[in-house]
Amino acid sequence: MSQKIFIKTFGCQMNEYDSNRIFDSVKKIGFDKTEHYEDANCYLLNTCHIRDKAKEKVYHEIGRVKKKFRFKKKPLVIIAGCVAQAENEEMLKREPYIDLVIGPQSYHKINDTILSHIEKKKKIEETEFDAISKFEYLSNIKNEAGKVSSFLTIQEGCDKFCHFCVVPYTRGPEYSRPFKQILDEAKYLVDNGAREIILLGQNVNAYDSEGFRLSDLILNIEKLPEIKRVRYTTSHPKDMTEDLIEIYKTSKKLMPLVHLPVQSGSNKILKSMNRKHTIEEYLSTFDKLKEINPKIEFSSDFIIAYPGEEDQDFTDTFKLIKRVKFINSYSFIFSPRPGTVAENLDLIEKKISTQRLEKIQNILFENQIKMNKSLEDKVVEVLVENLTDDKSKAFGRSEYMTSVIFNGKMSDIGKIVKVKIKESNRNTLFGEIVTHSDKKVA
Ligand code: SAM
Ligand code: SF4
Ligand code: F3S
Repeated sequence: MSQKIFIKTFGCQMNEYDSNRIFDSVKKIGFDKTEHYEDANCYLLNTCHIRDKAKEKVYHEIGRVKKKFRFKKKPLVIIAGCVAQAENEEMLKREPYIDLVIGPQSYHKINDTILSHIEKKKKIEETEFDAISKFEYLSNIKNEAGKVSSFLTIQEGCDKFCHFCVVPYTRGPEYSRPFKQILDEAKYLVDNGAREIILLGQNVNAYDSEGFRLSDLILNIEKLPEIKRVRYTTSHPKDMTEDLIEIYKTSKKLMPLVHLPVQSGSNKILKSMNRKHTIEEYLSTFDKLKEINPKIEFSSDFIIAYPGEEDQDFTDTFKLIKRVKFINSYSFIFSPRPGTVAENLDLIEKKISTQRLEKIQNILFENQIKMNKSLEDKVVEVLVENLTDDKSKAFGRSEYMTSVIFNGKMSDIGKIVKVKIKESNRNTLFGEIVTHSDKKVA
């Protein structure tokens, strides 16, 4: 069978990883990838359910596909990801154009599901939570991502049940992949060109497999000589254990940016969100890491206008941002999610929510701009990932994950080079290459 699949991915890095792994799987039954959805005979939408009208976005997208294929043979339409898990067979009922619905813990069944549909023309929904079988299956199929900076899922699911969040319902209970399975995948990624590995999990620092923790994984992965950088995301403040903090003293390749979502600066709000930690505990982790290495910087996620957020709570969030000086953060107004504890809580007036978001983003963006400005005329180390689309420049990332555009060449890809920063804006640094180096400065 020779077929073309178009995969559109929404949501987090784990969805990006999953989309690549889905492709690694369907390749085995004869699918090639296409970047143009009108050329596809299979259209797969990997969905996210985290905020806003997630479900409606999916139906809207299907509407677009329908229109495009009005006078052509209908493609096989697959909905994967977190909306698929949350909505399951309802999607097949509401939109007959959809053929298959498959949740994140059933991807090991994707080939059989497609083949069965082709043979019997039956609509299929697969939304069982079976993380063990999924990862066993996927570990027998090589991860062909082949990118300089590659994602590697080590843990999936969540048992924390923050009151605002759908993830425990869409990704299922916490599961940590076996240690050796992960190291094997890391080695394979390296053999295929990975020089940076970003370890992924919904609670990546809750990783625990037969006593092996995230710190063990980092130390083992950085032993691979070709690896130049290791990162991990997303961490929960409650799981910033001493072993993880301590490895910042010894690790040679762990990057000095800690993404640690805090959501709010107010203990009252953290409690009503069921976040299971206080601001004092968060700051204690911050202080310990800063003491180990003052170059360590933090980034975070914020939920603004959570039900019950009063002026004082908002001011506390503001104060926390001033104290930690996060260099990069995501901030969104609270969005009630179906099936969560916070679903029916009284919302804060839209005008106030928008004003608060604007204030928070102003200060967060200011921090980001200041950080980037402070690097002008300085030399930063950049892991080169690619050439820009027009091939005139190279693209890479600084140790703090900031995009860097500079006059690099094809032969720089996969290397760490020194770049002198000439200009910057909020998201990007622009510079000129100074020299090659494989040393880490921070
Ligand atoms: N596990 C991570 C943690 O504990 O922070 C984050 C997972 S979630 C995929 C990513 C971010 O989405 C969260 O940190 C939160 O800021 C945001 N988020 C989740 N549910 C939300 C909601 N109902 N409304 C607005 N933002 C939300
Ligand atoms: Fe969602 Fe909370 Fe779990 Fe993070 S820890 S995935 S925010 S429930
Ligand atoms: Fe979205 Fe699911 Fe990731 S809800 S953020 S795709 S875990």
